[in-house]
Amino acid sequence: MAVDLLLGLQWGDEGKGKIVDVLTKNYDIIARFQGGPNAGHTLEFDGIKHVLRTIPSGIFHKNNVNLIGNGVVIDPVVFVKELEGLDQYQIDYKKNLLISRKAHLILPTHRLLDAASEASKGKAKIGSTLKGIGPTYMDKTGRNGIRVGDLEFDNWEEKYRALADKHEAMIGFYNVNIEYDLADLEAEFFSAIEILKTLTFIDSEEYIAQAQKDGKTILAEGAQGSLLDIDFGTYPFVTSSNTTAAGACTGLGVAPNKVNGVFGIFKAYTTRVGSGPFPTELFDDVGATMAKVGNEFGAVTGRPRRCGWLDLVALRYAVQINGVTELIMMKADVLSGFEKIKVCTAYNYNGKNVEHLPYSIDAAHITPVYIELEGWNDDLAGITNETDLPKALNDYISFIENELQIPITIVSVGPDRTQTIHRNSR
Ligand code: GDP
Ligand code: IMO
Ligand code: MG
Repeated sequence: MAVDLLLGLQWGDEGKGKIVDVLTKNYDIIARFQGGPNAGHTLEFDGIKHVLRTIPSGIFHKNNVNLIGNGVVIDPVVFVKELEGLDQYQIDYKKNLLISRKAHLILPTHRLLDAASEASKGKAKIGSTLKGIGPTYMDKTGRNGIRVGDLEFDNWEEKYRALADKHEAMIGFYNVNIEYDLADLEAEFFSAIEILKTLTFIDSEEYIAQAQKDGKTILAEGAQGSLLDIDFGTYPFVTSSNTTAAGACTGLGVAPNKVNGVFGIFKAYTTRVGSGPFPTELFDDVGATMAKVGNEFGAVTGRPRRCGWLDLVALRYAVQINGVTELIMMKADVLSGFEKIKVCTAYNYNGKNVEHLPYSIDAAHITPVYIELEGWNDDLAGITNETDLPKALNDYISFIENELQIPITIVSVGPDRTQTIHRNSR
């Protein structure tokens, strides 16, 4: 059986958690393939909001297996807090939550290194979530990391000590003032490790291969978004993993010819949290209204998200790199009430209009070119059927589909699970 992928096409926070939860009923296994607790995936149902960090967004469905793949980096401390948050839902973790032995561990000193690195950069900081993501992936590619599977062997604590000592020396190189009490951090870390060890560790690539032979259906859940991809994003203002489709192959051990649907998810406008270029960013009342109506505050850090119009140049690029087969448009309700809706269709780059993403999308090098579409005033929150969508929104949807030549199969009109319109006509 083939594997479907669900990926963010912008700078993250597109609404991946909500849609994975909605689609889980169609799959046997939901598998996260990259990123770590820098992610905050929000699900809302029965009037309750849940934010997941490392645990896949299928966890509330009792009949699914949720898998944390080898491409993910796990912070035992955050992970245990996440488990505690789910305590009241009687989830059978032993059975429904499986962890790859090859996933890397985020150590307390990785978080400290993240903080030291950011502090040393001053104004040029990435705007990291400071969860230790960059330093952990650096140790992975530098071949120094500690993996979940190591916890099954006696000598892992020696490895830990050597690495943590090295990290402490490295923190010293950054000439910044980072205060910490490593003994405290380690006490918390080692007690979280004991809880982590009660979960089921697996050779996830074997598990997935067998599941495919058994005809099981798998949905791979991405974290972050394509423009935060380490290779294809707005480097260096990116995260440290491959957030794009290929990342699902390496992050789970799925062969490229086993990938079927690639569901690309995007907001009806654009947001970004942290530093880095953002061509369509709005600094006026329109942007402030989007932020307010869309409640655009980071699910992990609470930082305000920068807001702007939809950027079709960036979206076209993400569609191409991921091989998107279906589009999912989120937060259409947030655009209700604007008289006109602008869409960036090209960038002016060196005096010429270009439709591809140039090497630099800094404001110094490009200017977005917009077209204007009619807005709509209708409150979309209660709409459940595609035939009830306002004409101007349908026109907006058709315009995007036409530009990208990919169907939009789902339109989301509110944070709740039920506020999801399947466009069966597509
Ligand atoms: P993720 O990281 O991609 O899972 O997205 P986040 O959870 O970080 O951010 C998406 C935010 O938008 C969350 O607060 C969701 O509850 C909310 N949300 C998702 N879909 C919609 C929608 O269609 N309309 C509105 N108004 N909010 C939505
Ligand atoms: P989800 O999965 C939005 C951003 C950070 C920063 C940059 C690097 O919820 O969509 P890192 O912590 O990886 O060193 O931060 O990437 N970032 C996200 N922005 N959503 C996320 O995840 C993000 N994860 C990281 O703000 O700019
Ligand atoms: Mg998020």
